[in-house]
Amino acid sequence: MHDTQHGNGKILAEMLAKELPSNYDVSVGDVKTTPAIKVAQETPHLLILGGAIRKFQGPKRTNKWLKTLSHELTITNTTIPYGAGTLTHMMPPDATNGYRKRFLKNVAKSPTITSWYGECLSTQVRGIKGPILESEFEKPKQFIKDIVAWAQL
Ligand SMILES: Cc1cc2nc3c(=O)[nH]c(=O)nc-3n(C[C@H](O)[C@H](O)[C@H](O)COP(=O)(O)O)c2cc1C
Repeated sequence: MHDTQHGNGKILAEMLAKELPSNYDVSVGDVKTTPAIKVAQETPHLLILGGAIRKFQGPKRTNKWLKTLSHELTITNTTIPYGAGTLTHMMPPDATNGYRKRFLKNVAKSPTITSWYGECLSTQVRGIKGPILESEFEKPKQFIKDIVAWAQL
């Protein structure tokens, strides 16, 4: 899942999806147009949840969407075993440590997603609108490798 205004979050989500083994059933969606109930009904084995830092604030819309997802999962008494977070931003990665920490702290509160990967993938874009910096292109590959090993996919 991503929350895109200028397309960078979607590109990142698609890069991650492409790295997953091709025989897996993978869906990419925007939190603005994909109702949480749809994902709750699909109950994926792994949810990769993306957000963006905007106006010096964390991923508010993504956090809100996750809250609704948790609610829907509670109603159906189901859980998603694995979750991982990603953030896009224009600030240098070092300046986003606090945002990533807070994002992971927040998502970990959702009881219906059993286990969250301990690192949040951070992806820097150029300026306000992007594109994703070329130096960031290798990171999604390693992230998915690590996630696949961790979630025993
Ligand atoms: C209105 C606005 C405010 C932004 N503020 C910040 C910011 O405070 N810090 C930052 O690192 N990036 C900021 N950005 C850059 C966004 O993080 C970047 O546009 C986003 O991650 C790219 O995702 P998207 O193309 O999927 O929307 C801002 C972007 C916009 C449009």
